[in-house]
Amino acid sequence: MQTLVLKPDGQALEKAAALLRAGELVGIPTETVYGLAADGLNQQAALKIFEAKQRPADNPLIEHIAHMDQLKELIRGELPEQARALAQAFWPGPLTMILPKSQRVPQAVCAGLDTVAIRMPSHPVAHALIEKCGLPLAAPSANRSGRPSPTRASHVLEDMKGRIPLILDGGPCEVGLESTVVELSGDKVRVLRPGGVTPEMIEAVLGGVWVDESVLKPLQPGQVVRSPGMKYRHYAPKGSLTIVKGAPERVAGRIAQLYDEAVSQGASAAILCMKQNEARYGHRRVHPLGQRPGLDSVASDLFDALRLMDEQKVERIFAEAVDAHGLGLAIMNRMGRAAAFHVLDADRGE
Ligand code: TXA
Ligand code: MG
Repeated sequence: MQTLVLKPDGQALEKAAALLRAGELVGIPTETVYGLAADGLNQQAALKIFEAKQRPADNPLIEHIAHMDQLKELIRGELPEQARALAQAFWPGPLTMILPKSQRVPQAVCAGLDTVAIRMPSHPVAHALIEKCGLPLAAPSANRSGRPSPTRASHVLEDMKGRIPLILDGGPCEVGLESTVVELSGDKVRVLRPGGVTPEMIEAVLGGVWVDESVLKPLQPGQVVRSPGMKYRHYAPKGSLTIVKGAPERVAGRIAQLYDEAVSQGASAAILCMKQNEARYGHRRVHPLGQRPGLDSVASDLFDALRLMDEQKVERIFAEAVDAHGLGLAIMNRMGRAAAFHVLDADRGE
């Protein structure tokens, strides 16, 4: 199959909508990461997603909507009050809610669960496409399973070339990390996957929030997960990744030492550091994160950097930790998982 990459003008959107209505897959930009979209009401189309991504069949997809009216068809019963408040505050935007599913949601989309994940993206192309098709779009991130999520159309092409007919190129994704996933059950709201909508932002709306303990820790043997996605080692670069936390100068000292050791052993090594710390590493091979000041920019650079490490066949990657608050929690969750939570504390001499 030939994979076309088109700028999302009117004609390309028509083509994408026609493919989706016909049960085909299209790579689409969203504000978080690129999605691999299919008709969200079509079981056969959803199955194609699992095949193209080589995704484990027990890992459910997210339904993307453009209007609150589309919720009725997808959920069972009334929208809980807390969900309504979160939708009002954060939709359209990078928040996914897990809700009781209706009969209309194909079994493949929710991987046999009794719930469905729903989000309303803010990206104008995603929004326009949902409107044009008149369908909810089921879409996971458009990477092959186990690869970092795509934040550029070129990443989607790398992973999906020959597997899907069309990718809409909407440029780099603004957030660069997948949406925040929350579970609403009883009176508790629990963050299963941190993202652009931070726990602090949710707390400001609801007055309370839980963050699942697995967000910054590896799964324990036998631990029951609340979201199938938590089981899989995502975002894994081919090289080994070590994260170092602590006071900035100690972190830089430790990373420089680890890097030098790796190089002296003949390994190809690289350092992922904050842009403002670049000079601390002298002549070493550094890939700065965050072209602009602030964590937003670090988040939007991260997956591109991990892909680059693979492309350059880096064997040992050393990364500076960020503070795990606000958006920093999502960054540390993704980096942590890429590193199998191998984090050294330079302040404690690790
Ligand atoms: O930002 C995003 O969320 C992107 C864009 C394309 O919207 N999509 C995305 O999808 O990241 P995906 O499939 O890569 O991640 C969806 C996550 C998975 O970890 C999955 O296990 C979880 O949501 N999930 C989906 N349905 C669920 C459910 N019913 N219960 C618990 N977790 C669910
Ligand atoms: Mg994914």
